[in-house]
Amino acid sequence: MADNHLMAGKTVLITGGTGGIGKATAIGLAALGARVGITGRDATRAQAAAVEIRKASGSPSVEVFVADLSSQAEVRRLAGEVLDSYPRLDVLVNNVGGFWANRHVTADGLEHTFALNHLAGFLLTNLLLDRLTASSPARVVTVSSGAQAMGRIDFEDLQGSRNYSGQRAYNQSKLANVMFTYELARRIEGTGVTATVLHPGVVRTAFAAEDPSPMWKVMIPLARPFMKTPSRGAATPIYLASSPEVEGVSGRYFANGKPKTSNKVSYDTAAAERLWQLSTDLVGLTTAPQI
Ligand SMILES: NC(=O)c1ccc[n+]([C@@H]2O[C@H](COP(=O)([O-])OP(=O)(O)OC[C@H]3O[C@@H](n4cnc5c(N)ncnc54)[C@H](OP(=O)(O)O)[C@@H]3O)[C@@H](O)[C@H]2O)c1
Repeated sequence: MADNHLMAGKTVLITGGTGGIGKATAIGLAALGARVGITGRDATRAQAAAVEIRKASGSPSVEVFVADLSSQAEVRRLAGEVLDSYPRLDVLVNNVGGFWANRHVTADGLEHTFALNHLAGFLLTNLLLDRLTASSPARVVTVSSGAQAMGRIDFEDLQGSRNYSGQRAYNQSKLANVMFTYELARRIEGTGVTATVLHPGVVRTAFAAEDPSPMWKVMIPLARPFMKTPSRGAATPIYLASSPEVEGVSGRYFANGKPKTSNKVSYDTAAAERLWQLSTDLVGLTTAPQI
């Protein structure tokens, strides 16, 4: 039986908490006693999700932050609001992400999949790292995908400007989630903050609904009955955010609640450092956080 006090006194921020895996993660962590903040793009949708999360978890401590995380200015504003609202931050769940069949460009002129799936979490984590460190032991949990295994970082064309494929961009961004986590874990070792990354399983959500590929349009309705429910998909992020079993565990990839080996490329420390530096430049972080 779940210990509904396990997260008492802890504050958690979950990006993309208005639906799918993020909302189910919010319900699970609020039910364990955490104060939970969720983010979404639309205030009405986010408030409606918060009402649902309060009802399903039995916890009143659910707050809403509204931001379009494909925009770096919005990520910075969000980080400022979180720092103003939360004197401590015990867990950051970088969950936001999606798939776009066609190439879209963000307000910052960046390819949307890379900007939202990788750079948003990269920037938000860096902006909140001091608060996480001050609240340590603290955790950064990033939702990647099994698609990371098929990923390749195209350092010559990170933005897919020469030749875009939705699947390739998604695979690359999910591999970037893993490499970001491993590099972050190396950089924050000894601070009391851990970084883990996970595959949630194939889950029945609104994933890819904004711009599905022709194949997705055919496959998703057929596959939906066999997909995990969002609450089952949230099991691993909830486990990594809350379980004493993974206290101190850092720089590991999980699926089905167990550590797993990730894409061979993800263990290339020089490539991870190169990706970190390029990401730092792309989000305009001039100085490394003081740890
Ligand atoms: N579903 C799967 O089978 C599966 C498998 C492997 C990995 N994943 C990963 O799991 C994570 C969550 O996916 P999901 O399936 O739960 O997707 P989802 O149902 O589409 O939920 C996505 C969430 O992200 C928010 N969001 C989307 N675009 C945003 C933006 N520009 N700015 C801020 N928030 C934004 C949405 O909120 P609003 O629309 O309200 O703004 C929503 O809360 C993703 O990282 C995905 O890659 C999913």
